[in-house]
Amino acid sequence: MGKVHICDHPLIQHKLTYIRDEKTTTKDFRALVDEVATLMVYEITRDLPLERVQVKTPVTTADCHVISGRMLGLIPILRAGLGMVDGVLKLMPAAKVGHVGLYRDHETLQPVEYYVKLPTDVLERDLLVIDPMLATGGSANAAIEVLKRRGCTRIKLMCLIAAPEGVASVQKEHPEVDIYVAAVDEHLNDHGYIVPGLGDAGDRLYGTD
Ligand code: PRP
Ligand code: URA
Repeated sequence: MGKVHICDHPLIQHKLTYIRDEKTTTKDFRALVDEVATLMVYEITRDLPLERVQVKTPVTTADCHVISGRMLGLIPILRAGLGMVDGVLKLMPAAKVGHVGLYRDHETLQPVEYYVKLPTDVLERDLLVIDPMLATGGSANAAIEVLKRRGCTRIKLMCLIAAPEGVASVQKEHPEVDIYVAAVDEHLNDHGYIVPGLGDAGDRLYGTD
């Protein structure tokens, strides 16, 4: 079963409070989502392997470490996932970015796929699927499925807020995928919105409704 990692650093929790606040402007919402994405990268990259290297300092030779192993691929789910990409790239600038376009049908809550473009070397990368909201889990499951159909295996999921229903659904459909979230909220309402949540992440990021 994939683990759920709650990124509960005080800076993340502080900023998440203002992300939730309906009074937060689009400009501030976008900036805060970007900052929280950067902070969450610390938690998500905690298990990256290191290898030894030597560097010559101005004084002597030092035994040091650099990150080794596979490169990272970011897979934002359009459109709200885009709001977290730059924040992750600040700390992982060599990552390549693939896009999976999905929207949730308002009646059925089922994800509808409309775009997929992945890096050509996607199979050689550790992948991080990014979406601020994990509600029913339909969109995250569909995006992970897109990657698995192409043979990808090393996949993590990063969200700001999850509903328990969405966590359970991803754990059932993709038990090997670890989930990183800043908060797991109470439940979904009758319209499939996370309670208390933050509303519609895409609309709040881009000023639409
Ligand atoms: C939102 C959100 C997720 C999805 C979560 O996207 O960004 O992708 O809903 O819901 P689920 O877990 O029930 O699938 P939305 O469909 O509103 O599209 P948008 O990002 O284009 O606004
Ligand atoms: N998508 C959102 O943007 N917000 C929710 O609460 C649920 C799905």
